[in-house]
Amino acid sequence: RTKRWNIQVQEPDYQAIREAAELLRNGWTVAFPTETVYGLGADATNEAAVSGIFRAKGRPEDNPLIAHVATKDQLRGLVRTLPPVAETLLDRFTPGPLTVVLPSNGVCADNVTAGLSTIGVRIPQHPVARKLLEVCDIPVAAPSANTSGKPSPTTADHVFEDLHGKIAGLVDGGPTGVGVESTVVDCTQDIPIVLRPGGITSEQLEAAIGSVMVDPALANTTENPKAPGMKYTHYSPEVPMWLVAGTPEHIQTVIDGERGPKKRIGVMASTETAAELHADKVIPLGSDLRDIAAGLYDALRIFKNGDVDLIVCETFPRTNIGQAIMNRLEKAAVSYVDS
Ligand code: TXA
Ligand code: MG
Repeated sequence: RTKRWNIQVQEPDYQAIREAAELLRNGWTVAFPTETVYGLGADATNEAAVSGIFRAKGRPEDNPLIAHVATKDQLRGLVRTLPPVAETLLDRFTPGPLTVVLPSNGVCADNVTAGLSTIGVRIPQHPVARKLLEVCDIPVAAPSANTSGKPSPTTADHVFEDLHGKIAGLVDGGPTGVGVESTVVDCTQDIPIVLRPGGITSEQLEAAIGSVMVDPALANTTENPKAPGMKYTHYSPEVPMWLVAGTPEHIQTVIDGERGPKKRIGVMASTETAAELHADKVIPLGSDLRDIAAGLYDALRIFKNGDVDLIVCETFPRTNIGQAIMNRLEKAAVSYVDS
């Protein structure tokens, strides 16, 4: 049985937060909202507790977890050094959707870092996450609270769908907000490297610290990514998805070429493009990139087997949060159809 609490974000129920914190302190797994996606938390200093995360998600053991803390002082307690550039990033963007990778001091259990000498740390901004971390007063290891390989959860119902019965608790704080995960920045080199694009955009990072590098593996599929998790199948909807570039007319041509009595087509596109397309099921994602990011994972979960046979998704500009959107869509898709 999974204990579920419903929390009003504006007036959090402290009794529920205390109960969830107590479960975490006692070595159980609890899912909770952050401003990006729901996380599946466990005491990061307790190896057995952390194993519970890998078990519930079916997550490969070589994929390290992010440690979540409430304050910069707590973060300092998990790393060997905090270089000036990391300090600047933390001051500028946290609490918020940013994860910094730094040399670990070994306080967190070995399975959190999957045996690496570095650790990803993050101070989330969501009021429920903040309160929970404050009350439990331990670093909380938390990957996204989905079954490995599926789209990340942006609502408590998504978490329930995947992990119900496999985790001790679920704090429901409503839909998350940003909708894509935190930006992961490796700060162990002189020039920081973006390992995973996310809620803080490259444009924002560059405005704060000058040039940043982007892990070459993000653009080149033959390179091994530096963030172990970036190499796995990810964000997969139940049915195959094609990413289709080009004008609405071109996308419609692709749809018409595939659609038939035995092949139903689902479409994901911006609200404007969606209005021009005809298919068996059309999901408008919103008008600007922020809205599209917020609703992306929910849309990927809407299409079920037996409902449609192929999803056709529009492509988006790789600027601002579009970089993270396209990164996730490219992982979710089985092929890319150029115009
Ligand atoms: O927004 C988020 O970051 C969410 C919420 C729950 O905080 N968490 C999340 O965790 O997305 P997860 O485990 O789904 O993704 C963490 C990513 C993976 O790609 C992992 O390989 C990478 O961060 N990562 C973690 N620690 C790392 C390290 N020491 N070095 C390199 N990459 C690391
Ligand atoms: Mg994940």
